[in-house]
Amino acid sequence: MASLIIYPPGAGEAQVVSLDRRVVQIGTSPENDLILPEDSGEPHHAHILYEKGEYTLICPSKAHAALVAGKRRKSHRLSDGEVFELGDCLLRFVLYDQGIQATDETTSQDAGESYFRSLHGFAQKLMATYEVSTLLETLLDELIALTGADKAFLLLIEDGVANVRVARNIDQETLHNAQMAVSDTIVARVLSEGNPLIVADALSHEDFKTSLSVVNLKLCSVMCVPLKARATTLGLFYLGNDNVVNHFSEDLLDVVSVFASTAAQILANALARDELLAQVEDLESQVEVNRFGEIIGACDAMRDIFKKISRVASTDISVLVEGETGTGKELVARALHDRSNRAGKPFVVINCGAIPENLLESEFFGHVRGAFTGAVATQKGKFQAADGGTLFLDEIGEMPLSLQVKILRAIQERTVTKVGDTKAEQVDIRIVAATNRHLQDQVDEGNFREDLFYRLNVITLTLPPLRERGDDLLLIARYLLGRHGQAMDMTPPAL
Ligand SMILES: Nc1ncnc2c1ncn2[C@@H]1O[C@H](COP(=O)(O)OP(=O)(O)OP(=O)(O)O)[C@@H](O)[C@H]1O
Ligand SMILES: [Mg+2]
Repeated sequence: MASLIIYPPGAGEAQVVSLDRRVVQIGTSPENDLILPEDSGEPHHAHILYEKGEYTLICPSKAHAALVAGKRRKSHRLSDGEVFELGDCLLRFVLYDQGIQATDETTSQDAGESYFRSLHGFAQKLMATYEVSTLLETLLDELIALTGADKAFLLLIEDGVANVRVARNIDQETLHNAQMAVSDTIVARVLSEGNPLIVADALSHEDFKTSLSVVNLKLCSVMCVPLKARATTLGLFYLGNDNVVNHFSEDLLDVVSVFASTAAQILANALARDELLAQVEDLESQVEVNRFGEIIGACDAMRDIFKKISRVASTDISVLVEGETGTGKELVARALHDRSNRAGKPFVVINCGAIPENLLESEFFGHVRGAFTGAVATQKGKFQAADGGTLFLDEIGEMPLSLQVKILRAIQERTVTKVGDTKAEQVDIRIVAATNRHLQDQVDEGNFREDLFYRLNVITLTLPPLRERGDDLLLIARYLLGRHGQAMDMTPPAL
């Protein structure tokens, strides 16, 4: 970066000032960028203008012109190493200032350490949030702090177009009308070449100085870095400083590139997560329209089932639910209960196929203490537990004949007697039974009592096999994947 070395009159120490803006004001008054010692010159003595790659010294008043090589000059184009006088001060113009660059090993080590510290902090902040808009603002604020840019933009490619998604300024505020504030030409170049780019002084740059956006925006320094994740360019970082030319160094570009690759990975995950959440939301709304409580279904056969459930739910009529394994028989039983006046009372499930035959009776009706070996205390059965509610007899086809008669009696008389007891108890229950066998066939084969069959089978709901439900199947599969995926914090595969 160019600079001026000032040698004040007398024994004063020389000072170095960077020419880091388009116009550097020089004079004794305190609002100047370069303040001359008191009484050594005029309040507004001169300024140095940077334009088209050249630095020009301009003295507005003829009376106080600069002295260059012994000649009075109102305007003079400066060359590297040139010495001139302003009032009582001697000044040297240096095009490439060594003192300002971090050539000292300790300084560059310190800078490196601070970069890595902020990279680490930045990665941690990014990982602490999944919410994309917060993530992006955090990203840009960190980048501004790191690079000294006065504004930063994050552009994401959406449908092939690079749109400004977040724009922040140095005060951590959101910029409005941000799309207008970036140079389309620079963005297009970085996207087409896929490489990061520093533009030291856009207005003087051969390739960009004619670009309307560059001219209109009076751009100075720009750094633009693509965001790539897994061979895809997601977008880019665009950093600008509109007052200072030559603001961004190659070293800084390396650091921002490391930031960009970390950010791109985290961003890619966050975007994928956002997309999935949107899909889940969309599916949930689709499911909402095509569901009956917990049961999903839009096919004709299921709509018919829903109608029947609505019609019989509020009655105490026994319902037999038939259907292959996994067709949702238990869901139907619960729907009947939930839509009845018994909804606030227990819904008790008993799986007739899962209990050893010798324990079935006590499981159903309870037992008194000492009724059999191991009956150490009097206990209620499922019938008593379901009092006031619904008893769901699942896998009813597995029930042994010996017990069928007792169940029939309990249903007919609405009373049960504990094993080992003599006293019958009143129970108020609604029976819903389910089977994946064809119960009529079992009756015909003599394995199921006909009288019990007719008791249970006042209404039959025959659930269609999943394979006959058309698109419902996809809806159910997606719904279950989404629900379980969310519960396990896993990303379900797309269906
Ligand atoms: N139409 C549906 N909508 C939503 N979930 C369903 C549907 N059908 C089945 N399921 C889900 O599938 C699983 C199996 O359902 P359920 O246990 O009710 O079937 P079942 O007919 O009782 O099966 P089984 O004969 O194996 O006992 C459950 O997790 C249930 O939530
Ligand atoms: Mg079941």
